[in-house]
Amino acid sequence: MVHADYANITAASRAEALESVVESYKALAEDTEFYVANLANASSLLWHAYHSLGVKVNWAGFYITRDADTLYLGPFQGKVACQVIKFGVGVCGTAASTQTTQLVPNVHEFPGHIACDSETNSEIVVPVVVDGKTVAVLDIDCETLEGFTEEDQKWLEQLAAAIATSCKF
Ligand code: SME
Repeated sequence: MVHADYANITAASRAEALESVVESYKALAEDTEFYVANLANASSLLWHAYHSLGVKVNWAGFYITRDADTLYLGPFQGKVACQVIKFGVGVCGTAASTQTTQLVPNVHEFPGHIACDSETNSEIVVPVVVDGKTVAVLDIDCETLEGFTEEDQKWLEQLAAAIATSCKF
């Protein structure tokens, strides 16, 4: 098996596809604790998993905490995005400051949502927490309303937990 084979996701269900993302991430992260390398591959796994399911994900990636209380654009798949987000601002900043997953069925109803792409209609952001500090957030955007549910939240929180234990930030 070569590395690109991990992106060939042919799961029958959403749960199977997301479980395979978590398991593939853990296998790949055994090679290194460098967060850029691991989050780049996590972004690719998520992008291919959602696309294999026909979910119209238009952005999947990470923002990284730097300078205390500020998020900076990290590894991702999708179009160009905003580079700097303050804790407490928008969906990503809210996930970072509250350390809780933000499951947003309609981004247009989220106060302060930062519109990086006008095609985005729903979003999920999961914080990555190490020793009580938010070190990064996982962000996925979708072109349709209600693109994500509690099922996505469950698996993405498992992925965030695996990232927290496998990466050195
Ligand atoms: N919509 C996000 C900003 C990041 S982009 O979606 C990639 C937010 O409100 O935090």
